[in-house]
Amino acid sequence: MKTFIFAHRGASRLAPENTMAAFILAQKMGADGVETDVQLTKDHIPVLIHDETLHRTTDGTGYVKDYTFEELKRLDAGSWFSEKYKGEQLLSLEEFLQWIASTNLVMNIELKNNLIDYKDIEQKVFNLITHYKLEHRTIISSFNPKSIRRFRRISKEIECACLTSRRPKDLQQLIQDSKANALHIKYTALTKGLLKEADRLQLPVRTYTINRPSRLMRSYKLNLDGIFTDVPHSAIEYKELYLH
Ligand code: G3P
Ligand code: MG
Repeated sequence: MKTFIFAHRGASRLAPENTMAAFILAQKMGADGVETDVQLTKDHIPVLIHDETLHRTTDGTGYVKDYTFEELKRLDAGSWFSEKYKGEQLLSLEEFLQWIASTNLVMNIELKNNLIDYKDIEQKVFNLITHYKLEHRTIISSFNPKSIRRFRRISKEIECACLTSRRPKDLQQLIQDSKANALHIKYTALTKGLLKEADRLQLPVRTYTINRPSRLMRSYKLNLDGIFTDVPHSAIEYKELYLH
């Protein structure tokens, strides 16, 4: 069974999402990889945060795109989650990659450019990945198929996944248009028919975000290529149970 376990925004059930604390915890738990979300700051620096706005996961307000990275670095990205994590900071993609390079984790960088089409985000992210020589353990994904196509033009060797929360009407067309070479799909949109089609197109399939034991077990049974989970420790426990 090949299913890779990706910690979704790090071990985000137990530590504030997309912070170093959440990533380090995921690694300690034994996850195979980590998933993170990237937006661009006012000074065009790729920064790890899920929302386009700051209020949910920091003590800031307004849009990420309206602040420089230096300004964002002063925010508290941990207190909203718990007092224990007070003082956690937002990370630049570069800070994250420096850490990834010191581990053997695989990573999925999700470009959050479906609402704001950040100019040149693909090139900026690509430059950092190559600087740290992480091409072979990186998967790029986006809900924006045009962005995937742009990334594929820049790099042929980095795996790129189309993200979707619905069952694609025509998977082959989506893949042809985006030039993606993997599919990341919401668990509730996954069907056996779609898996068969993905198999025919030789596409790796990974699913998000699964935390419940029954869903974890079904994903292992379906031999999916990967799962994104907020509870990597639990996913590992059930994987071991499934294998024995
Ligand atoms: O990449 C899988 C998953 O992270 C996509 O949805 O909203 O959690 O970023 P979201
Ligand atoms: Mg994501």
